[in-house]
This record gives sequence, structure tokens and C-alpha cells, in this order.
Amino acid sequence: MSDPTAHRPGEVAIPLPEGFDAGLYFIGRIRTPWASRADCPKNGLQTQATCTLLVDPPFAAGLQNVEGASHLIVLYWMDEAVRDLALQRPRHAEGSRGTFSLRSPVRPNPIALSVVELLGRDEGRLDVRGLDCRDGTPLLDIKPYYATTDSRPEAVVDRAGTRRAAEA
Ligand SMILES: C[S@@+](CC[C@H](N)C(=O)[O-])C[C@H]1O[C@@H](n2cnc3c(N)ncnc32)[C@H](O)[C@@H]1O
Repeated sequence: MSDPTAHRPGEVAIPLPEGFDAGLYFIGRIRTPWASRADCPKNGLQTQATCTLLVDPPFAAGLQNVEGASHLIVLYWMDEAVRDLALQRPRHAEGSRGTFSLRSPVRPNPIALSVVELLGRDEGRLDVRGLDCRDGTPLLDIKPYYATTDSRPEAVVDRAGTRRAAEA
């Protein structure tokens, strides 16, 4: 089996700083049907699977009123990702791309996000649809998704990268 952390041709690694600038708390874990990252869908729209956010007791009080939201933004920590690539070569892409132009979990701070549908809550347990991570992935944060402010229907991604940022 090939090493999933091995660098591909065209990828560029950078030296990471020796120390961290901030700490964070894992507020829980995410239970999903996928035992390995190779089993995961590429994004949460590719699956109808129900996943569960298990929020640890000290943080579960913060879930009060969360049922008011039909959809949530979930932030999670991609704990198996390497962190030192500035240029990456996605498996099915022609060439290399900048880390910050990609949704890859490989990044200096391997924080992932998904917009999920909230299916139900039982105390510190939230059942949701729309995740793409391995079972046991650490949970960082949960926020309500506001279609009024978070949705940008006009948004595009030009994969050739020729769209000028100044047009934004
Ligand atoms: C392309 S990323 C997208 C993540 C998130 N939806 C985002 O846009 O930030 C999803 C992929 O990350 C990989 N992955 C899932 N769980 C992981 C984990 N705990 N650590 C590292 N990689 C993971 C899987 O290959 C999965 O298909």
C-alpha cells in the first residue's frame, strides 16, 4: 500500500515554524461510517449518511438553542493530514496548486469545514447529514449557518486560476 503522506511530483514542502501561535480545545468527536480517510466522500454533498457530533460534557451546555438552526457550520480537525505543503498535487489534477486555493485537508492548520443539515439533538449528541471525515475526527466548533449572510449564489471557482482577484 502506498504512503498517503508521501509527496507527489510537483509538490513543495515548507519548513514550519518551531512553535505554535495559539492553542485550541477539541470539544468532542465526530462519529461517521468511514473507518479510514480513503473511505470518506470527497465532500458532504456526496453522501446521505447520518453522522453524529458527540460534544463532550464540559461543552455540551453550549448546545442550548442550537435546534433553532436547520443547518450548521461544523469545523473539525483533520488529524491525519500533513501540514507542510505549500503546493499540492490533487490526485486527479494536471499540475500543482497552492494550498490556500484548495479544500484539501493538507494545510498548516488542518481545519475542515462543512455545512450540515441538523437532523436531531439528544443532550450532547447532534445527528447531522453532510460530513466527509473519518470516524473519530476531532470536533472544533459548531455555528449556525445563515443563508442570509453565508450564502453567495454568485460565487465561482475558476480552476485555471486565471480570474483576477481584483475583480472580487
Ligand atoms: C477534501 S476534504 C474536505 C473537508 C471539508 N469539507 C472542507 O472543505 O474543509 C475531505 C477529505 O479529507 C480526508 N479526511 C477525512 N477525515 C480526515 C482526517 N481525520 N484527517 C485527514 N484527512 C481526512 C478524506 O480523504 C476526505 O475525503
